[in-house]
Amino acid sequence: MAVERTLSIIKPDATERNITGRINTFFEEGGLRIVAQKRLHLTRAQAEKFYAVHAERAFYGELCDYMCSGPVVVQVLEGEDAIVRNREIMGATNPANADEGTIRKAVGQDVQANSVHGSDAPETAAKEIAFFFSDLEIVG
Ligand code: CMP
Repeated sequence: MAVERTLSIIKPDATERNITGRINTFFEEGGLRIVAQKRLHLTRAQAEKFYAVHAERAFYGELCDYMCSGPVVVQVLEGEDAIVRNREIMGATNPANADEGTIRKAVGQDVQANSVHGSDAPETAAKEIAFFFSDLEIVG
């Protein structure tokens, strides 16, 4: 296993419910370290660009509307095998399918308002981190 970095987003359903600290406890107790963090309100254009990989999916328009409907917290998580570890801690995309003990099982509402996003592979993680952060803003 190697130390990796991955991009995490706490989504508008979670900022709205004031549970960002509760969510970050899952990451920290799960062995990941928050090495960069900021709170943003994405524009529609920024959401479209970030999720461009899903542009052909039926849910793309709703996803972009949702991601700019309120504040988000974007952060870089660091740790052993961080990309896979983060996905384990988040649980299945649809909270209805998420395992006990995961973030989405505990606080996710539905497949759209699923509280957290995480990069799915090393190449994606590098691109997604660079979308939001410069090297100077990441302090491990
Ligand atoms: P996320 O990890 O942010 O990556 C893409 C997002 O699309 C996903 O989480 C879901 O919140 C959202 N989404 C909305 N509808 C669907 C769907 N039917 N299937 C998969 N993802 C969906």
